[in-house]
Amino acid sequence: MPTVRFRLNGVEMDVDADLDRPLLDLLRGEFGIIGAHFGCGAGECGACNVILDDRAVASCDTPLWSVADKDITTIEGLGSAERPHPLQRAFIAEQALQCGYCVPGILISAAALLKRNPAPSSREVKEALDRNLCRCGSHNRMVRAVLRAAAEMAAG
Ligand code: FES
Repeated sequence: MPTVRFRLNGVEMDVDADLDRPLLDLLRGEFGIIGAHFGCGAGECGACNVILDDRAVASCDTPLWSVADKDITTIEGLGSAERPHPLQRAFIAEQALQCGYCVPGILISAAALLKRNPAPSSREVKEALDRNLCRCGSHNRMVRAVLRAAAEMAAG
């Protein structure tokens, strides 16, 4: 088996695996990283999103070969119950979730946006979350939460 090297939530990894294996399969099946959810399995819903360097990508649609030497951040690397990311605090404050299945992928898309653009407009937030599906209809509260987190992060 070929070896692929990458950083997962800040930890250097050397993995022997089939290079065509989807990253999501490896995260959930081998590493117990279950925050990235399986939704459509076809790169359409965003439930499995992770940050690859500074972009949100669908890990179900990302073959292992394409993550060589890259930084991967999952929801587990964003924050924790003890030290939540400002986005996680803002989602709670705005009650921006219902069933919650899509939320890790949405937080990842929002975090990637704030990495590239710390002061997005409402329109830019909507564009960044456009590929994340939510059946509960929490979109307006999610946009408010992302703007709230951006303001909190700007204030330090
Ligand atoms: Fe990957 Fe839907 S499960 S985009």
